[in-house]
Order: sequence, then C-alpha cells, then structure tokens
Amino acid sequence: MLETTLAQLEASAQERIRASATADELEAARVEALGRKGTLAQLSKDMGKLAPEQRAATGKRLNAVKQALEAALEARQGEFAGQALKARLDAEWIDLTLPAPGPRPASLHPLTEIQSELEDLFISMGFAVLDGPEVETEFNNFDALNMPSDHPARDMQDTFWLTDGHLLRTHTSPVQVRGMRKLGPPLRMIAPGRVFRNEEVDASHEHTFYQLEGMMVDREVSIAHMLYFMKTLLAGIFKRDVTVRLRPGFFPFVEPGFELDIQCLICGGGGCPVCKQGGWVELLPCGLVQPNVLRLSGIDPEEWNGFAFGLGLTRLVMMRYGIGDIRLLLSGDLRFLKQF
Ligand code: PHE
Repeated sequence: MLETTLAQLEASAQERIRASATADELEAARVEALGRKGTLAQLSKDMGKLAPEQRAATGKRLNAVKQALEAALEARQGEFAGQALKARLDAEWIDLTLPAPGPRPASLHPLTEIQSELEDLFISMGFAVLDGPEVETEFNNFDALNMPSDHPARDMQDTFWLTDGHLLRTHTSPVQVRGMRKLGPPLRMIAPGRVFRNEEVDASHEHTFYQLEGMMVDREVSIAHMLYFMKTLLAGIFKRDVTVRLRPGFFPFVEPGFELDIQCLICGGGGCPVCKQGGWVELLPCGLVQPNVLRLSGIDPEEWNGFAFGLGLTRLVMMRYGIGDIRLLLSGDLRFLKQF
C-alpha cells in the first residue's frame, strides 16, 4: 500500500521537476516533495505504523526515491544555470571587431592658435621668439624703457607690485630689454606672453591678458620698414582687408610713437562695448625705438636704430573670432572653448 503511494509520488514529483520552467517553479517542486513538511516527510512518519519486517524494505525504498528526486532536481537546476549564463552572455555580447570610439577631439585655445601662427610668420621673416618672466624687475619693466620712477607715464599702467619690489610685468616690453642685452644688434625678435594690470574688469578689460612684443634693431630702420611688418602681420592673421588708421601715440620708449587702430570687426565700426562705442580698436601701438632705450641696454644709438610694437594679442583674438567679451577667454568654460 505504502509502496504504491511511493511510486505515484516519485512519478508525479519527477514530472513536476521536468515540467518546471523557471528556477522558482523548480524550488516549489522541491519543497513539495522533499521539504520538511513535504510528501516524503509525511510518508516517513507513516512508516511507524508498518510492521517491523516491512519497515526496513520500505525505508530503503524511501531513501532511494529521495536520492532519485534529489539527483533530478540537481540536474534540472544545472540546466537552468546554464540557460541563465547563456542569456547573460547573449545580452552582454560585445562586437570586438567594431572600431573603438576614439579620444574626444581636442583643440588649441584660440590665443595659443594665434600665437603660434604669428610665431611661424615672424620666424619666416628671420625673427627670434623670446620668452621672459612674468615676475619682472622694476628696472626692466620701467626704467630701462625710459620710464624712471618719477616719470608720469608710469601712471598709464596700473601695476601689481610684490612686497619684495618686483612686479607682475605690465607689458611684454621688458623682453625688449632682455633681448637687446642678450643678443645685441642687429636684432629681430618677438616675445609673446601674459601681462597683468590692476584693471577694473569688464567686457573689454582684464587684469590678465596677452601681448606680442616685436622689435627690430638694425642700421637705418625706418617707419616704412615698421609699417611693412605691421601690414604683413595683419594680413597673415585676418586674411582679408581690415581698415586701419595710424595716429600719434605716446610711449616713453618710442619716438615717434603711434597707435595703429583697426576698425572694430565686432560691430563693423558702428560702436559696441568692445570698441567702447568708438568704432575703432587699439591693436598695435608701435614706433621707432627711443635712443635712450638703446643706450640703457648698451647699444649705441648713433650706429643703430629700430622699431618696436606691442600687439594686443587678446584683442586680436577677439577681433578675429568676433568674441564680444574678453572675460570668456580665461573663463575655462568648455562650452566656449569647444567652438574652436
Ligand atoms: N608696451 C606698450 C603697452 O603695453 C605697447 C608698446 C610696445 C608701444 C612697443 C610701443 C612699442 O602699452
């Protein structure tokens, strides 16, 4: 009697194991057959009612059924695990033959870009590219440029002084001094770099900006030579006609001195914040080197003369790319920088 029940139970449990479609269904089948309150456990309780001579044989049979069911469960579990792994591998499959996405494209800062274009241009005309320190001596920044400490022109440049008497250079002109002393005449040099002034910051003024200094010292250098290099410079950068005007400008280190302005390319000359509504932008102060400047750097002005200019690199970038606010250039804002 128990024998028959056992056989039926085994058959139906095997069937449920085979038919279970998910790991959860399989677990339910296991609990029903082999769980603590499952059918097999129920049957072993009933064994107590059997006659002692039957008990051993039935007990053996019960164990055999239990083992058979456990083996079947384990096999089916293995199948499920295999299926799960296969599903995962299918889902996570990567096509290794696809091309890699590649690095994000980088680009040069527009200031760096223009600076290296100008360097190439001037190198091609025989100029050396010089570098100077941003922390300068008072002598190189002012005195050697014909601006002694009592000279009113010093007020033109609001200076950041360091406590030890040095200063943050207010222009790249001190590199003229370094160039003349180091290389001597004849000399053709440019010096791009960062300069600092104690400015009220607005759309067209920054406390930190860039200039490109130029200097040529040779025999019988004239304003015509100077203008040739200025025009070549502007043509190289703008690659189109820009309207320029030359007017007298005062700088103690040049004589005669000029301001070369260009018509504002942001507004076309009509007036905007960048040109302070005037329609013109000061871009290229320049002039013939003042004899005292040569003398102070050990060059005889009877024998040599030259020209110098101080291009506003930051302004040039703003004009070329139509940037209406100087503060964007040093903002580090990637939305701005990505456009270049
Ligand atoms: N250093 C001057 C300035 O920053 C510009 C300049 C340079 C003028 C060379 C004349 C010659 O204002």
